[in-house]
Amino acid sequence: MPHSTDLGIDLGTSNVLIYGRNRGIVFQEPTVIAKNRDNDRIIAIGEEAHRMLGRAPGSIDVYYPFKQTDISQSINFVGAMLLRFVIDTNGKHIINGPHVVMSVPAGLSDSDRRTLISALFESGARRTQIISRPIAAALGADLPIGEPYGEMIVDIGGAATDIAVLSQGRDILWKTENIGGDSFDQAIIKFLRRKHNMLVGEITAEEIKQRIGSAMPRRDRLYLDVTGRDLLTGLPKTLRVTSDEVREAMDEPLIALIQKIHETLAATPAELAADIFDSGIVLSGGGALLDGLADAVSMNLKIACRVADNPQECIARGCGLTMEKYSEYGKYLAASRKRR
Ligand SMILES: Nc1ncnc2c1ncn2[C@@H]1O[C@H](COP(=O)(O)OP(=O)(O)O)[C@@H](O)[C@H]1O
Ligand SMILES: [Mg+2]
Repeated sequence: MPHSTDLGIDLGTSNVLIYGRNRGIVFQEPTVIAKNRDNDRIIAIGEEAHRMLGRAPGSIDVYYPFKQTDISQSINFVGAMLLRFVIDTNGKHIINGPHVVMSVPAGLSDSDRRTLISALFESGARRTQIISRPIAAALGADLPIGEPYGEMIVDIGGAATDIAVLSQGRDILWKTENIGGDSFDQAIIKFLRRKHNMLVGEITAEEIKQRIGSAMPRRDRLYLDVTGRDLLTGLPKTLRVTSDEVREAMDEPLIALIQKIHETLAATPAELAADIFDSGIVLSGGGALLDGLADAVSMNLKIACRVADNPQECIARGCGLTMEKYSEYGKYLAASRKRR
């Protein structure tokens, strides 16, 4: 018999992750849509659409909807994508539909949220609640946010980073900056163009970052042979790129990110800042997987900094934990709903 499981959904700018209650992470795919430009029909979503990025014919739009400036234009497509993802992971409900706790990107209007919630309703969800991203990230990182004690969580996604100070289950400060993992990719593209007259795409830049990128000098020098377009001849060429070069390339967004964390710390009430000084900053999100990032933050700000376990899964896990431990964490749902 088809069964339904309560779901925690991290609808991110780069990836959608779904946590099944008492099952853990059951789904992870890129937040990408491929649609026919002429009739707006969806051709592919998720992993399948991601494989088409930069490779599709001109009649097909392949894009990350939450990285567009006007999200509302795409919200119906996102709704359709969500519906498919949930039905794929959970099966369509028979009697008792799942309860869904979801975190959504910044910049969604109330009507955008309603569109997503009705898509979930169509997928069988009986109830959907939205949770604030930093609260979900902190719960997923196992931070004791209910205590009268300041904690700082920095969730680094693809297009955005949430920097928040939490205490007693509330966000005392919370800022969303439009700098994230993508900023590092763009910096690599810029660097290769300027220094080597070579043009690489975003997928290649991201791969360079993930394979040999580092926020700190590394002892073992790594390199990668990268193929791109030679801007002088217009033809493909292959070039050996070193980890030192990549670190140099990423310096600007790295400093900018650390500066944003600094600003938030400087605006934090003194007692809470002292708590954070004791407990350290915690990084989550896929961007936290950048090698050496916590060390770079720590070295620059002179405060301990660590990466949460499975950082990319924190938000989805936090969403799921509110249901698994409803008596303890259910209160954060009400609190987060009140906020906006
Ligand atoms: N191993 C890695 N090293 C560096 N960056 C990584 C790594 N894995 C993922 N990322 C980056 O994490 C970002 C996506 O994080 P994620 O939390 O999934 O995004 P979002 O929450 O915006 O959907 C991307 O910029 C991706 O390149
Ligand atoms: Mg994320």
